[in-house]
Amino acid sequence: YPLKSHNTFGMEVTARLFARFASVQELQELLQMPEVKQAEKLVLGGGSNLLLTQDFDGVVLQNGIKGIETVAETEQQVYLKAGGGEVWHEFVQYALQQNLGGVENLSLIPGSVGAAPLQNIGAYGVELKDVFHELEAVHMVTGEVRTFDGAACKFGYRESVFKNELKGQYIVSHVTFRLHREHSLNTSYGAITTTLQEMQVQQPRIQDVSAAVCHIRQSKLPDPKEIGNAGSFFKNPEISTEQFDQLQQEYPAIPSYPISETTVKVPAGWLIEQCGWKGKVIQNYGVHKNQALVLVNYGGASGAHIRQLAYDIIQSVEDKFGIRLHPEVNIL
Ligand code: EPU
Repeated sequence: YPLKSHNTFGMEVTARLFARFASVQELQELLQMPEVKQAEKLVLGGGSNLLLTQDFDGVVLQNGIKGIETVAETEQQVYLKAGGGEVWHEFVQYALQQNLGGVENLSLIPGSVGAAPLQNIGAYGVELKDVFHELEAVHMVTGEVRTFDGAACKFGYRESVFKNELKGQYIVSHVTFRLHREHSLNTSYGAITTTLQEMQVQQPRIQDVSAAVCHIRQSKLPDPKEIGNAGSFFKNPEISTEQFDQLQQEYPAIPSYPISETTVKVPAGWLIEQCGWKGKVIQNYGVHKNQALVLVNYGGASGAHIRQLAYDIIQSVEDKFGIRLHPEVNIL
């Protein structure tokens, strides 16, 4: 079964079996089928955080659970429950139409609702965990449904329990978000303020913030429909303030964001650019010209080549700065 249209890198690999489920019951039935039970399983949302380097000798399960409904309301908050198979940006648009605040900064992130909690998607000063209420997930072996609250998900920077202790054990069927009727805009990210000024918006609404975010993303990040990619390929590394102070003496321009009294985060894109990788083209793949954190497939590249490029980047950043980058994308 060809997977090319199921991963945003556009890798031309195949899976032995492919099945789509549209409800929890359908998923539970699938999981009981002998050929599925015995096989290795890969759950796909939008395939937007994945680098496939070879054919998959197992079953790909595609989450097709749809629907968005209001499950609870208070004076201030509305709880929206969405099927894991909903497209993330369509969920954001639904919230904007209902005039519910909280996810506007997360506009245009590729992928599905069900995949969003796995890596606690984040952008422009907001993370999924800030609007998360709970999720329902189905156990891959028993088919049992379990509810996880925020604490049980153990969210961190691009991290959750589902990437660690519970990796490969659950499929997220539904996610419930806590959104706000009264909006507190997060425009702490400089580019949002500048873009809103350019748009000549005086009193921004959540819809304007969303438009600004879409504009920034479209100007910096390649559209996977045109150029294969999976967004940021690496996480921004955290280093000690001690190490940072030393680096700053040699590289006064090095940017950073404080994390705690003892650690700072450094943008991986800057480190990679300093090593000369930005805009590099190697045959039919390379490093994006506007954002060095994004690796791209111009068409027909192999996942193994892109993985090798990632290793070469990690090596050169380590040689120059003594900082080890870690992939954010799942490499399979
Ligand atoms: N920078 C460079 N060169 C580059 C890219 C970045 O010097 O080629 C430096 C600049 O100093 C810039 C800073 O890095 O000011 C930050 O860049 P940017 O605002 O593009 O954000 P980022 O840190 O590179 C992170 C997320 C993005 C998210 C943006 C905005 C990670 C791994 N990535 O990127 O998330 O959209 O912030 O909040 O944390 C994703 O995860 O797929 C993703 C796109």
